[in-house]
Amino acid sequence: MGPLFVVLEGPDASGKSTQLGLISERLSSLGIPHLTTREPGGTTLGRELRRMLLDPRRSMRPLTELFLMLADRHEHVETVIKPALRGGRWVICSRYGLSTLAYQGYGRGMDLGMVRELNRIATGGLEPDYVFLLDLPPQVAYERTRGRDRFEGEGLTFFTQVRAAYLGLIRSVPRGYVIDATKSPEEVCSDILAHLPLPG
Ligand code: TMP
Repeated sequence: MGPLFVVLEGPDASGKSTQLGLISERLSSLGIPHLTTREPGGTTLGRELRRMLLDPRRSMRPLTELFLMLADRHEHVETVIKPALRGGRWVICSRYGLSTLAYQGYGRGMDLGMVRELNRIATGGLEPDYVFLLDLPPQVAYERTRGRDRFEGEGLTFFTQVRAAYLGLIRSVPRGYVIDATKSPEEVCSDILAHLPLPG
């Protein structure tokens, strides 16, 4: 079996970073070489893009936001994700193309066909092997994150739209799974790992 590209999706405060850590511990204990990373912000350039994208004082046009997300992704895919996979390492990534469809497509109301096509160009067609949607009721996500960054400043309606979008989108993702993120971090981690082809 080759190295796997695994993506965690879900609203902020759904525990993606915690899960990156827990999954990484488990893979290390099994001796599986891997890296954990995230979007936006998985490269040096990406960290600058992330700061711009998330700054609550900054406003930008929806298309500008889309292009910056995709610039971040292209750089990340070409300089981090593909080299790791080629080198035999698993990649566990917080957010990828589904975030762009949910937030820029459904959330900002941009044309989904265009978002899909631009995303395909940005990634060179690289799709994840597994996608886990850490699902939370919008009220819980909203309460956990209120005002933390530009996206989370959008309010409960935005979270509700994004959640509905995610739940619709994940259904057409091969090996895409919805995980109940209201459970404890340890339970969420074992629910994720149960789907992965791990030795033992
Ligand atoms: P994070 O805090 O989970 O790392 O995500 C940062 C924010 O960026 C989050 O509110 C969602 C947003 N985002 C998009 O709007 N589109 C995207 O394509 C990505 C990757 C993130």
